[in-house]
Amino acid sequence: MCGVSSRRKADELIKSGHVKINGRVEAELGRTVDTDRDMIEVQGRVIEPEVKRYLILNKPKLYLTALGEGQDEKRTIEELIRDIPQRVYPVGRLDYDVEGLIILTNDGELANRVLHPRYEIKKVYRAIVKKPIDDSTLEMMKKGALLEDGPAKPDSIKVIKRGKDSTTVEICFHEGRNHLVKRFFYSFDNPVRQLKRISIGPVSLGGLPRGKWRSLAESEIKNLYEATGA
Ligand code: URA
Repeated sequence: MCGVSSRRKADELIKSGHVKINGRVEAELGRTVDTDRDMIEVQGRVIEPEVKRYLILNKPKLYLTALGEGQDEKRTIEELIRDIPQRVYPVGRLDYDVEGLIILTNDGELANRVLHPRYEIKKVYRAIVKKPIDDSTLEMMKKGALLEDGPAKPDSIKVIKRGKDSTTVEICFHEGRNHLVKRFFYSFDNPVRQLKRISIGPVSLGGLPRGKWRSLAESEIKNLYEATGA
């Protein structure tokens, strides 16, 4: 909780005598401390629990989902969240040319839960594809596609709008393989022209303007945890 190490590494630090509670080495695992009253030192440094932050960002296109310097002079989402004092990390990635919802947090436990397919957190995307989708193709899409790294079956897919030379589709997956949505439509010979993620589990982008972030409400954090069975 203090951003010092992983849980397992913390056990090792304790067992090897690198942790002091109120000035005395504590090499036993499982001691309960009161973080308001007890002083905890790790390798001589006093540590404090980090404030947990949870926010969502509406990533614009042409930003890398990365922190720090981007490659090849590409901008990163870091410049959109500069005003946050805690170091928060993106939960999963969106491609450079994809926009929409990204959750950022320093709560590693929640991040893992949201990303792991086991918890089946559904990510909904709005895709504009280049060609029409007739009803029989839509039925085939519902059954899934065989991609080079295995089968991909959407949790749901529906056509939102049929345009003259494009189709708007809402598609939902509970996994996050690389370029999954693009590869899915490509396998039906219908490339994606525009892609936007609009929700992750119970959290929706709503009217958040492009390039802006907001903190999640307590209820959204609770709902996210609950959605992962916690
Ligand atoms: N699917 C994609 O193809 N790209 C993304 O960024 C997310 C899902």
